[in-house]
Amino acid sequence: MPATIISGTEVARTLRAELKEKVARRASSHNGTPGWIPGLATVLVGDDPASRAYVGMKNRAAAEVGIHSRQINLPADVSEDELLGVVEGLNADPDIHGILVQLPLPRHIDEEAILEAILPEKDVDGFHPVNVGRLAVGADDVLAPCTPKGVVDLLLRSGHDPAGKHVVVVGRSNIVGRPMASLLLRRGRGGDATVTVAHSRTPDLGAVTRLADILVVAVGRPDTVTADMVREGAVVIDVGVNRVDDPSAPRGYRLVGDVDFEGVREVAGALTPVPGGVGPMTIATLLANTVQAAEAIRARSEQEVPA
Ligand code: GUN
Repeated sequence: MPATIISGTEVARTLRAELKEKVARRASSHNGTPGWIPGLATVLVGDDPASRAYVGMKNRAAAEVGIHSRQINLPADVSEDELLGVVEGLNADPDIHGILVQLPLPRHIDEEAILEAILPEKDVDGFHPVNVGRLAVGADDVLAPCTPKGVVDLLLRSGHDPAGKHVVVVGRSNIVGRPMASLLLRRGRGGDATVTVAHSRTPDLGAVTRLADILVVAVGRPDTVTADMVREGAVVIDVGVNRVDDPSAPRGYRLVGDVDFEGVREVAGALTPVPGGVGPMTIATLLANTVQAAEAIRARSEQEVPA
């Protein structure tokens, strides 16, 4: 029997609807306490078409759930100091609770310095070393990177709780593979998995992936996982987004994941498509992180006693 297709588009729609309701509740005043609106700032440096498209989608999605969103576009030759100045301005802005600097940045800018300049409590990407470290030691109230957090949510909401399962993660990037492993290892909801991380230097990758109850593939190369590498009935989550030439497609290319979809769907129990799988969850999770950041910042400011 071919695999069930896990629709990230549908699950993300549900998540966005929940967030919209939550944002609306926070926006209305209660017993004389004024309402408030979470704010997200995105920073785009240069004019890479893919980055521009992603940032545009993030801002539109934010506006749709009622999050105040601000997009800052900077030229490709902006200096590191100027960019740091923009980040510092957003750190100090009380209307902004989440800051996202779209990566990659131009080569003359030190990416690490920029990510470290973002206040950890506004770091909705979860890339600041403080948040990376807190996630690595198993903190459950941390801002975690959107793609792996979205994968956990997708698994839970599609009935594939990772607890007690052997999850094999293929890929060790800072954006997906490593935080994916940390999330799945946490105690409690969404965690408690047995985790193996494989990567480009793993010999006989298939021997490892065939052990997986749940297989998460985040490598960035089409056909990394083929049918012979998947155990019958396994759940396969394809994080890859790759452009392949296709003269018959309107734009001359089409998007594929890292998994041979047609082959693997004959063996897997469940499988995410590309597009329409993990991608929509990443964006919805960014909105969830913005609301989480805003709530934490507000809770802290309410506790502070004026001097
Ligand atoms: N570029 C590709 N993915 C991401 C992401 O999740 N966050 C940011 N800031 N940039 C990216």
